Amino acid sequence: MNEFISQSLTLPSGLTLANPIVKAAMEENLAEANRLPGPPLFRLYEQWAQGGAGLLITGNVMIDRLAMTGPGGVALEAGSDLEPFKNWARCVHTKGGKIVMQINHPGRQVFAKMGGKAWSASDVPLSMGKHSGLFAKPRAMSETDIQEVIERFSVTAWRAEQAGFDGVQIHAAHGYLLAQFLSPLTNVRQDRWGGSLENRARLLLEVIKAVKQSVSPEFSLSVKLNSADFQRGGFDVKDAKAVIAMLNDMGMDFIELSGGSYEAPAMQGRSADDRTLAREAYFLEFATQMLDVARMPLMTTGGITQRATAAAVLASGVSLVGIASALAQTPDLPVRWLQDEYASPVPKADFRDKTLSGLATMAMVRRQLRRMSDGKLPKRQIGPLFSLITDQLRLARLTRRYRRAL
Ligand SMILES: Cc1cc2nc3c(=O)[nH]c(=O)nc-3n(C[C@H](O)[C@H](O)[C@H](O)COP(=O)(O)O)c2cc1C
Repeated sequence: MNEFISQSLTLPSGLTLANPIVKAAMEENLAEANRLPGPPLFRLYEQWAQGGAGLLITGNVMIDRLAMTGPGGVALEAGSDLEPFKNWARCVHTKGGKIVMQINHPGRQVFAKMGGKAWSASDVPLSMGKHSGLFAKPRAMSETDIQEVIERFSVTAWRAEQAGFDGVQIHAAHGYLLAQFLSPLTNVRQDRWGGSLENRARLLLEVIKAVKQSVSPEFSLSVKLNSADFQRGGFDVKDAKAVIAMLNDMGMDFIELSGGSYEAPAMQGRSADDRTLAREAYFLEFATQMLDVARMPLMTTGGITQRATAAAVLASGVSLVGIASALAQTPDLPVRWLQDEYASPVPKADFRDKTLSGLATMAMVRRQLRRMSDGKLPKRQIGPLFSLITDQLRLARLTRRYRRAL
């Protein structure tokens, strides 16, 4: 039952992982004031590297410091000092781990308070009921903006390779910019970047081509894609299948399948349409539907906390098991699974306001990440309300710091 934890795996790029367990991306909000990685992030990643996962994917790193998913995030641009990024990769490699940088552009999912750019495929704002005002109103991107974004993705990927990372993952899920282009709900353009799925996927494909040209063939390149947006009329399973078919010949190391967006947080196990997600491994059923088209390894992330679930994911033909929250609660979960079936508890908030619940659940995870970044172990018991309040206060402070830097 636990043999899979010692089974190594070589990806198409030649990158060999000690096992198929992957720490999925979690935005850490722990950057230094200049948006560079520093000792708190190094301490956190050292702890994860010792925890035994075959691959660590960083929280999303921004390709543009003026378009950030959060005020404490990391940005890697043409002029960024590379030394801190080298240290980040090194602290994982010296512990025997592998590290891939997730790279992202938020598009319209930026907080209004932060300022900076809010770009999207079209000028469709987020619709989150009474919370909609938290987000900036986006403007539709021009052809020049689109070309700038493609260039930025390739520069960030190239610099990540220079810094010693094992690869990059392009974030095209969770309602961020590339997902906004993919979804007919947010992309109502009538030019070559909108309309048919082929047109809506064009930006993702152009980004991949540009990244491929800027890095070496053995640098791992993967994409995080929604299996569906879980919104009526949004990007759906058949679209995901078609996009995977488009990616088949583009040298992908693996495709990570997730789902949802800020409007429909399926990655937290909640959908905004009629579909109910599984209690564990939320997207496994969708991932297995992709197996007949995908010629690259697939990974699924969401709701995996138990060894038996991880084993079931692999038995279904999916090659990589993505775990996020459970590795914030139990950073050495893979090592523990070698010994016994340890089910990591993942605390979830349950307030009447579902948006607040989602924020509190994220806040509890981030509180654990902060503890680890201080060199401490995560707390076994953690409360949602205190976590939410301290998280909001901290985000307000980081937002002021970010605005000063702007
Ligand atoms: C605090 C937090 C931050 C996250 N940041 C990112 C991110 O930067 N990029 C990303 O692709 N997913 C991000 N996620 C989503 C996770 O990668 C994952 O898809 C989701 O949490 C479901 O997996 P889990 O049930 O194992 O937590 C984040 C999740 C949490 C809890």
